[in-house]
Amino acid sequence: MKNCKQIEYEEFDNIDSLSETDRLLLQTAFKSAEKAYAPYSKYHVGAAILLDNNEIIAGNNQENAAYPSGQCAERVTAFYASAIYPDQTMKAIAITAISEESNLSMPPFPCGSCRQVLAEYESRQQQPIRIILYAQNGHLIIFKSVQDLLPWAFVTH
Ligand code: THU
Repeated sequence: MKNCKQIEYEEFDNIDSLSETDRLLLQTAFKSAEKAYAPYSKYHVGAAILLDNNEIIAGNNQENAAYPSGQCAERVTAFYASAIYPDQTMKAIAITAISEESNLSMPPFPCGSCRQVLAEYESRQQQPIRIILYAQNGHLIIFKSVQDLLPWAFVTH
């Protein structure tokens, strides 16, 4: 029997152990969540990507009356970052959510499609993208790489 690699992650109940840079990234994601267009789910997601040039690109979920036409915060942000900076390495992505209906205890884990998209950018740049997930109650989970969230991503090569 073969084994897939062990998934490592860090888990905290507050942001005290975060670096200044990670805090700024998270704060940017939170501010972006506040600007999300989520009138249908009332679940506002914000993401912020730190690039190699130290610029931060922020995005949020954009919903639509035709539900499948909407887009997740992670993909809005990653596509935008890659569209304007195709050659910049993505060092980290912070993701957080604000629900109009409840106090969230779990951070927003990226959906499968967003994991697939992030996995391809990670593989393309051959450098891991750290993933920082945060819930309103302080619950913080950090993964070192998209591979930890999506081993065996789809590839065509
Ligand atoms: N959503 C995200 O922004 N990211 C995810 O990874 C999963 C879900 C959004 C889509 C929709 O606007 C709302 O959250 C509820 O599903």
